[in-house]
Amino acid sequence: MLKLAIFGSGSGTNCQAIIDAIEAGTLDAEIKCVLADKEDAYILERARKHNIPAIYFDCTPFKSKLDGEAEQRVLRALEEHDVNFIALAGFMRIVKDGLLKAYEGRMINIHPSLLPSFPGLDGGKQAFEYGVKYTGCTVHFVDAGVDTGAIINQKCITIENDDTLDSMMAKLHAQEHIAYPEALQWIAEGRILRDGRRITIN
Ligand code: GAR
Repeated sequence: MLKLAIFGSGSGTNCQAIIDAIEAGTLDAEIKCVLADKEDAYILERARKHNIPAIYFDCTPFKSKLDGEAEQRVLRALEEHDVNFIALAGFMRIVKDGLLKAYEGRMINIHPSLLPSFPGLDGGKQAFEYGVKYTGCTVHFVDAGVDTGAIINQKCITIENDDTLDSMMAKLHAQEHIAYPEALQWIAEGRILRDGRRITIN
């Protein structure tokens, strides 16, 4: 059984999609806690509404990574809540060695582009500004690089001439909300290898 911690920094619509899939019975997992590096992140409110423990952790003095004391506090919280798998969902910090090693092969992320194109910050905006005609989202394992881990699931969208960044992002988010629960269910069923390959069950 996947005993999940979901990490975020913002509105948490992907977390909501995972909660909804579990409640609908299409994802066989339990969310043990939701964690955020911002006290007012709406993802924490979403967790509270579903009686899921919501944990804020202060990452000071680091601006863009989870390290040091904060990392230690997070590791303790994960142990206390009996977490065996981590889903990053809009978590805007780089995860460092302590957490990576503790959850090696058991941490995944969603990114708003078709990796390996447009990694890093604002992947959706990068793709839109580049002028690509197709883009999408990627669910991938987390490794020590930035958005470089093995790919588990991708969904495509078409960028039409009259799309704005906002209209494109709305299409992209809708696909993310399908791709993330789907990837987690494949993992729950033991159908995903460490290199991202999918085992087909006939
Ligand atoms: C999602 O679009 C996700 O792909 C992106 O942040 C958004 C979070 O939305 N993640 C990254 O850019 C990570 N590099 P949400 O808080 O509504 O789920």
